[in-house]
Parts: sequence; structure tokens; C-alpha cells
Amino acid sequence: LELRITTNVTHEIPSTLFGYMWEDINHRSGFNIGKTRPSLLLTVKTTAPMAVSTNRAFQGVIPGTQNALYAWQSYNGARLSVTSKTEGVSDALPNSLEVKIPKAVSGPIGFENTGYWGIKVQEGWAYKGSLYAKSDSYNGPITVSLKSARGTTFASQTLQGISNSWKKFTFEFEPKVSAPNDNNVFSVVLDGKATAGKTLHFGMFSLFPPTFKGRENGMRIDLAQLFVDTDPGVFRFGGNNVEGSSWDGRWKWNETIGRLEDRPGRIGDWNYPNTDGVGLMEYLNWAEDIGAELILGIWAGISIQNYSDFATWPVVPEADLQPYVDDVLNEIEFIVGDTSTQWGSVRASLGREEPYALRLIEIGNEDNFQADSYAAYRWQAFVDAISAKFPQMEFIATTLPSTALNPPYKRIDFHQYNSPSWFKANAFFFDSYPRNQTKWFIGEYAVTSTNDSNALGTLDQGRLQYPTLLGSVAEAAFMTGLERNSDVVFAAAYAPSFQNIHEFQWTPDIVTFDASRLARSTSYYMFSVNKGTHSLATSPTPSNDTAPLFWSASYNNESDVVFLKVANTGEQDLVANIFLDFPSTGHIHAVTLATPPLTAVFGQFNTSNTLEEPDLIIPVPFSAAIPILDKFNYTFPATSVTVLTVQSP
Ligand code: AHR
Repeated sequence: LELRITTNVTHEIPSTLFGYMWEDINHRSGFNIGKTRPSLLLTVKTTAPMAVSTNRAFQGVIPGTQNALYAWQSYNGARLSVTSKTEGVSDALPNSLEVKIPKAVSGPIGFENTGYWGIKVQEGWAYKGSLYAKSDSYNGPITVSLKSARGTTFASQTLQGISNSWKKFTFEFEPKVSAPNDNNVFSVVLDGKATAGKTLHFGMFSLFPPTFKGRENGMRIDLAQLFVDTDPGVFRFGGNNVEGSSWDGRWKWNETIGRLEDRPGRIGDWNYPNTDGVGLMEYLNWAEDIGAELILGIWAGISIQNYSDFATWPVVPEADLQPYVDDVLNEIEFIVGDTSTQWGSVRASLGREEPYALRLIEIGNEDNFQADSYAAYRWQAFVDAISAKFPQMEFIATTLPSTALNPPYKRIDFHQYNSPSWFKANAFFFDSYPRNQTKWFIGEYAVTSTNDSNALGTLDQGRLQYPTLLGSVAEAAFMTGLERNSDVVFAAAYAPSFQNIHEFQWTPDIVTFDASRLARSTSYYMFSVNKGTHSLATSPTPSNDTAPLFWSASYNNESDVVFLKVANTGEQDLVANIFLDFPSTGHIHAVTLATPPLTAVFGQFNTSNTLEEPDLIIPVPFSAAIPILDKFNYTFPATSVTVLTVQSP
């Protein structure tokens, strides 16, 4: 193949092109109470990047049941139950932990929380904790600590002052040694002799390791840094978890702000209780912290009653829609209103005076599943009302291409979970797409399966547990098409993003983690960190004739670097003669994601990075002088993604 990179700029590349989608799925923002899983793929779950104590406020559980005690265990015979019979910590948190100490007891006694499938104890970290406690019959000391499951104490503190009304206690742990593994607990211990026969109540526990940028209720640093390291252009908040299993069970923005004590939490659409500790402001702060533009998905009048039977999803009738429209107007006012507005002033009272930046609002999520009501009135009701109050907003529709919407959409969100074949076959879809002003957002995409006819099936039907190199290269082929056509495609977000390996609903995910480890998948690397500002024409333009090589060329006008992103989806190495229509400094640099030669996995393209082998497949850099200044040969390895960079003088 002869491939010429020209100096013809075809269009400017939007800064929003590559980024992430986010919702509480796979236990990434909340906790789990171990509810049953209808199926691996629809009801699995992850760990919170933030708090370390699971089921911290007994939200969404049924008092008196064993399930309500998920992640809590008795220490030395204390009798534990979750109750709502005594007044809770707040109106939003009616449940508390009742601890009954048997009469015949001596020595330490109490209870423990096992964290999110373990707790990382790290020397030098300051863990900030708090809990509420009360007792009618005991006013002595309470010892809180971080311990190994075998009983080694890493840090501890004694709390004084418990009385017969709820009191918040705060504490800090600074372990002097790191725990050898994550099999650790947060423990609350009392003196058995002093408490024998007595009853105590506890509620709203919180325990955080240091967080990203020191944010309160913030993100786990290593996980948040992964986002930052890829320099994401866009952060989409949305997905099924906003929708609720009933209208009332939807994600209610106003129940996710303010004090943790005032956040009731909810059973999310992925069938586990969300604490909503990561609420609207945490999402807004996070998007800002990672430097990505927010796409805000708003609730647009449908809930998901039965995931697989979308024809039955309840739709709010037109006559009843206005309160929900008003609610969204309040949400937007909270985000962008100045302090003279009702909700802008609430935001200011929560510590954020300056409005957040918001331009892109997505009306609903996958409303192609309820397209008739969307076209008939839901889209219009939200768009008209929001435009009237916030004329600066731009809207994204979530139906498939349609002429039925009024006002006509200018932006549309399209989702695709599919096999490598689909991604390769559709890599040129946008090359011939009419430039008719409609901009596309690929708001969720991933190779999910090797099965061409059932991409969302089970593992034994071809569903992937982790992204594979084969799948990531096919995604990259498709992404070269997105970048080449980024005059039409303004943004794209891989989904889902994070997965707690201990409980998850959806595979594969871009990053997998447990209490202390993480694994960047093969889909994590390459595109967003090599950002062009302008797209360049090549000769030839890639097409089915040039497959299995797929490419896109771009230029960054700040760094004067030309990028050539190439996916080789074939099983053979391929050589290209590359011609440059511009002066270069005589060097090329490249990074390549491929199976590493001289390893046991070389040539095995269905290979994945896992928690056990997180760096099996990582980008490998390469640099060389170009012997003739305007041309060189380059070998693109079998099943690989390469980003070549050429510096202009
Ligand atoms: O990413 C998982 C789910 O897939 C999203 O919540 C939903 O929008 C899509 O169907």
C-alpha cells in the first residue's frame, strides 16, 4: 500500500471527540447488598471508586432481613439487625444498625464492615471516617479501627460522648504499616463488660481514603487518574440508571445533593442500592476535574419496568408530563443558574457559587425503544421548555434517525454494542453520510462479543469478559472512521467504563478493578491522547479496498504534529509506504498496541488484560529516523493499533 498524507485540511476536529460514558453500574459509584442476580449480563455489579464501607447507611434494604446486613458482620457475638423502629439519623435515612450485646459477655465485642469486597490499607494515607451513634443505656467509649480480618490493628481511635440522641462522630486513621492484602475490615468495638445487656444504634457510616483532588465524597485516586490520563474530551452522564424501574424510582437529581444524611439513595436500574454519595455535584465536579465537557442526560418520561420487554416500559402521558419538565428546568438551573436564582442559590449554599459549564443536554436515553411518544410529545416538551428558559442549550435526541421529531434534532446519540465484524464493516459508514447538519454522538459503543448474531448474550454465547485485542482493534478501525468524519461525529464514548470484578452487570468494561488493583483494558489506550485539531485528507482515502488497514490522519496546530492512526484488523503484518506532503524533522515516533513478540501470547488476538495480568498488552513506543525526508516504510503488525506521529519543523 502507498499512503500519502496530504496537507489538505478537511475539517476541524471537535474537542469533544473521544471520552467516557458514566452511570452507576458494576458498583462503580455505590455499593451492593447482594441482591439476587437475574442473569450475569443484566444484573451484575462493581465497587465504589470512593467510600470504603459498603451498605453504609442501610439504604434500599428491608429492615429485619439478613440481606439488610450485607457487608456487616458481628464480632464476638454482638447481635446485629437493621431496624427502622427507632428514629433514623435523618428523614432520608430511616434505617439504622441495632447492636444488642448479650448479658453474659466480657472482652471486646462489636461489629465489622468488610468494605467493597475488601479494604486497601495503605501506610501514609489518611482515612477520614464518621458514624452516627446513640444508646439509651450506654455512654462509654467506642473504639473504631482498621483491622485485618485476622485481627491485626492498623489504626484505631476511641470515640467518647455517645448519648441517647443521634450524634455524629468523626475520626481519622493513619496506618503506620500497609496491610499485606485487602482482606481487612472497618471495626467498631465496645467493652463487653460495660455494655453487657445493652442496646446501641449506629447509622450513616462513612470512611474514605484520600480522594482525587481531595474532593469530599470524591473518587478513588488511581481510578480517577486513569480517566485524566486519557485526556477525555467528553463525559456523558446518562444511561439506563437514570431511568428507574418506575417513574418515582428514577434518578432524582435533587435527592443526590447536599449532606449525605439527606440523600436517601435508591435501587438503581442495575438492581443494587445506589447510595447517591456520588450525586449531581460530584459528577459535575468530576467532569470539571478531568477537563471533559459534560453531556447531561436528563430523565425524559420513561422508566424501565422489565429490562428485556421494552414495549412495556411505562411512559408518562402527555397530560402528566409537566412536573417532570419543571424538575429538569430546576436541575439545569441548579447547574447553570446564577446565585439570584432559586436553585443557583441552593448550589451556592452547597459551596459552589460559580455556575458550572453546560451546553449539551441529552433528552432521555435510547428513546428508540419508545419512539412514538418521544416523537409525539416528549422530545418537544423538554426541548421547548428548556430552550425557552436556557436558550444557550443544545440538544441531543436519542431516537434512531427520524424525521418525526419536532423541532427537528441537530444532534443524535447512537449506541452500538456488537461484534468485531460489525465494527469493521461500519468503519466507513460516515464517509458517505450526508453532510446535512445532523451531528452524531456515539454515546455508547464497545465490542461486546464475538457472536455476530447475539452481541449481548452470555459468556458461553461469545460475550466477552474483558475487552480483547481483537475487539479493541475492530473498535479502533471504527474510531478511525469517527475521527475522519468528525465533521459529522462530534463525540464518542466507550461504555461502560468501570467494573468491580467482584460484582458486575455488564461486560466488557474499559477498566476493571478491585479494592486495590486495576486493569486498563486493551480498549483503554491510544486515541484520545493523540489529539489532532484538524483532519487531513489522505490518498487513497481508506475504504473496503484498503481493509484490513483502516486509518485517519490529523494535525495538531498547537504542537505541529501530524498523527496517522492505523488499525490493522488482519492476521498478517502489513507494510505501507508512507509519503508526506509536508516537511518533517526527519523522525517518526510510534506507539503500537499489539500482541508482544517473544511472549507466550504472541499471535493470540483474543488476549485481554486482566487484574492478574494487567499489562499483558500495552502500547509499545518506537522511534526512527526517516531516511528520505518525505517517505518511509512502516510495518503495521497483525491485529494492532498504531499511532504514528511526525513532527513538522
Ligand atoms: O452501558 C450499559 C447500558 O447499555 C446503558 O445503561 C444503556 O444506555 C445501554 O442500553
